[in-house]
Amino acid sequence: MEKLIYSLLLGLLLITFSCKKVVNDNTPSFTPYQIDIPKRFPAMEIPDDNLMSVERLALGRKLYYDPILSNDGRACATCHIQQIGFTKNSTLGVPVLPHQNLGWNKNFLWKGEKNCTLEEMMLFEVHDFFVTDIAKLNASKEYKDLFYKAYGITTITHKDAAYALAQFFRVLNSGNSKFDKYRRNELSLTPNERNGMIIFFTERGDCFHCHNEIFFTDNDFHNTGLDSTFFPGSMGRYEVTGNANDIGKYKTPTLRNCELRDRFMHDGRFSTLEEVIEFYNTGVKQTSVNIDPLMVLPEKALGLQLTQQEKNDLLLFLKTLTDTAFLSNKQLNAPQ
Ligand code: HEC
Ligand code: HEC
Repeated sequence: MEKLIYSLLLGLLLITFSCKKVVNDNTPSFTPYQIDIPKRFPAMEIPDDNLMSVERLALGRKLYYDPILSNDGRACATCHIQQIGFTKNSTLGVPVLPHQNLGWNKNFLWKGEKNCTLEEMMLFEVHDFFVTDIAKLNASKEYKDLFYKAYGITTITHKDAAYALAQFFRVLNSGNSKFDKYRRNELSLTPNERNGMIIFFTERGDCFHCHNEIFFTDNDFHNTGLDSTFFPGSMGRYEVTGNANDIGKYKTPTLRNCELRDRFMHDGRFSTLEEVIEFYNTGVKQTSVNIDPLMVLPEKALGLQLTQQEKNDLLLFLKTLTDTAFLSNKQLNAPQ
């Protein structure tokens, strides 16, 4: 009898152990983490070699806010500030692109210098942009312990830092704006916001072709007719591909949380959304080379011809894309 109990216990132990091994992913501590994907968003692909875990995510979040990654006191969060959608305002030169919903994104940077996975993009940021001194991380007992716990490694490489950062990027998801709540039938828009929405999503404003749901970007590149002459250094995606068809094309930025920004377009030429709307209304340079066919439809020959009221309503609609829960989410700020 005793023998039987013992063998049963042993069997149980073995079962528990082998189950745990599967869940454990062979790392010292792997507590699976389920990403809270906003409702109506598509599923997010997670690479097999960087499955989400509580330990990895916490590490990525810590790295994002830690100047240890750079050699000049900057952290990612120095230029990517949560309260305004993980971007930075009033920058000179190239406006900082926001970190939102990038887990679904493949084309990175205004000119699309990078077409890759999030892990590869993070490796570029750490290795090429910050030129992270990896010896500093390896000299830190705290980081050595955290990386061992999260990834089971004893020597930290740029790739490991990139993988941890990618985990944090996968939770920077904005999908709970007033507009999202409206789409989920949780509230109604004001008549003016609704009118703005109709302008946005119909041929009247024709914004939705490029800034389409659910991300308010098509993840593609277009010349919207901002300029009609191009100089070396400001030729857009052409500088990456060398393809003449790409002259003047830039990545479509997401419009989520755009209300909070004060630099718009790839060179920050506009500082208010009113100016942006006026550009689409009357400023499009229709003779620009490679201009997107949508910008030169016959009915747009004289511009969109929006009334002042329509422009106000369009602006009010853009403001419904602000997601205060995301901007103040305490799980995403600097860890204590
Ligand atoms: C000095 C300010 C600054 C710092 C610090 C900074 N960034 Fe950025 N980031 C930018 C700017 C500017 C852009 C847009 C550049 C461009 O497209 O040419 C950008 C773009 C990006 C993008 C592309 C987003 C998209 O939609 O294509 C990613 C990803 C990114 N940064 C990640 C990081 C990470 C990770 C760190 C820390 C390791 C970091 N950044 C630190 C300024 C900064
Ligand atoms: C043909 C595709 C296309 C259409 C149509 C379009 N956009 Fe854009 N939008 C873009 C691209 C591409 C950019 C970036 C252009 C650049 O920087 O050179 C942009 C930039 C913007 C920006 C600046 C965002 C930022 O972070 O810098 C706003 C705001 C905007 N568009 C709103 C609108 C509105 C409102 C409409 C409809 C009236 C509209 N767009 C129609 C492609 C488009």
